Amino acid sequence: MLPELRTEIPGPRSRELAARLRRVESRNVTMLTAGWPVFWERAEGVNVWDADGNRFLDFTAGFGVAGLGHSATPVRDALTTQAGRLLHAMGDVHPAESKVELCEMLGELTFGRWGAGRGKTILGNSGSDAIEAALKTALLHSGKPGVLVFEGAYHGLGYGALEASALEFFREPFAAQLGRFAVSVPYPYCYRCPFGHGGGFALEGGEFPNCSSGCLEELQKRIRAEITRREIGAILVEPVQGRGGDIVPPRDFLRLLRQICDEEKILLIADEIYTGFNRTGRLFACEHSEVAPDIICLGKALTSGFPLSACVGRADVMDAWPESTGEALHTSTFLGNPLGCAMAVASLREHAKPETAAKVRAAGRHLLGVLQKISSPRIGHVRGVGLLVGLEMVREDGSPDPETAGRCVTSALREGILLLSGGRHGNVISLSPPFALAPEEADFLAGFLQKL
Ligand SMILES: Cc1ncc(COP(=O)(O)O)c(C=O)c1O
Repeated sequence: MLPELRTEIPGPRSRELAARLRRVESRNVTMLTAGWPVFWERAEGVNVWDADGNRFLDFTAGFGVAGLGHSATPVRDALTTQAGRLLHAMGDVHPAESKVELCEMLGELTFGRWGAGRGKTILGNSGSDAIEAALKTALLHSGKPGVLVFEGAYHGLGYGALEASALEFFREPFAAQLGRFAVSVPYPYCYRCPFGHGGGFALEGGEFPNCSSGCLEELQKRIRAEITRREIGAILVEPVQGRGGDIVPPRDFLRLLRQICDEEKILLIADEIYTGFNRTGRLFACEHSEVAPDIICLGKALTSGFPLSACVGRADVMDAWPESTGEALHTSTFLGNPLGCAMAVASLREHAKPETAAKVRAAGRHLLGVLQKISSPRIGHVRGVGLLVGLEMVREDGSPDPETAGRCVTSALREGILLLSGGRHGNVISLSPPFALAPEEADFLAGFLQKL
């Protein structure tokens, strides 16, 4: 359904709530400026209603969480049933049955499906938590503290995850408190090739760039040099870089990392917190390259709307953790919360259906197709895979244009379209809509962007 606006945006109720929030919430959490934000009241499918009764078309799926749609019926039903029985259990002491069921499903949908043995899971409460569980696992398994990461990486903002994230904006204010275990190398960002090749790349299969310029060889040299120089126990990578700018690397990138990890006997950790659960048209993005990581980190769409995450590893890797003798080394009060586990189990049943991935591929093809047809000097590059799509806004000289991206996001809100901007320069319009996005809804967005 296309947007339906009843008030100016934001309306009076949203403005009043913003004024109240300003008095009680710390600065630097919610951006409160003229024209921003609207307060969400309810949501269904691809639609969000705000506190003033305006209906928006959501191209964010609420940070990629609601791939199955806002308030997806099977997930809501599972939550309601679970809520009638048990809200909370003792996650690492006396857990609920739903934790068992979820860990079984996660192990089966990952390492089981990949023919890589059994998977074992550590649950967490946020994506950042899952990354930190993976970092700790890597140290226990390899005995080596170093972790190789990629420029532009976003792995969350807890101090372990932040040290592994390579976006200066988030790191700089806290640099004095960060550990020093991560080292970053360039991510294959074909539109702005870090090795200076740039331009002229072909699109193979419509989605993954086909790098023929040898950048992967240069990257390989850089990675091997770092591994020789430091005690690296793991490579942590987003198979498609999300908040760094929806950057789709060459298909061989992940295969190269797998090969290096095998040869150097280090762990490959895939951060699929954003890309996991069909966002890219496959259950997991690493499947596009037919690569199985040693550990996969999951969150966001795992539950379709509850703060719960998972670090799933091959059983022999996860068995680096000692048996618990009563005091778990890595846990938290809400670990394996029964509401979240029940929602995750219901979500995974939907995600495991082949028609879910097929729906994403079809909707993604249409969305990418209509966006690539837009002719605007302000849009330098449109890229994406499945329903993870980025539009890179540029100035006349081709340099990143965060101002236009920001203006686009705020003017879209006034047209009833929910967008986010991101990327390492803040100049990428980032799209991750619910999977039920209809062709006319994609066309509506394209019509708006065409007017820029
Ligand atoms: C790839 C990736 N990893 C980790 C995170 C952190 O997840 P959370 O915000 O739930 O801590 C995010 C969040 O956007 C992400 O996109």
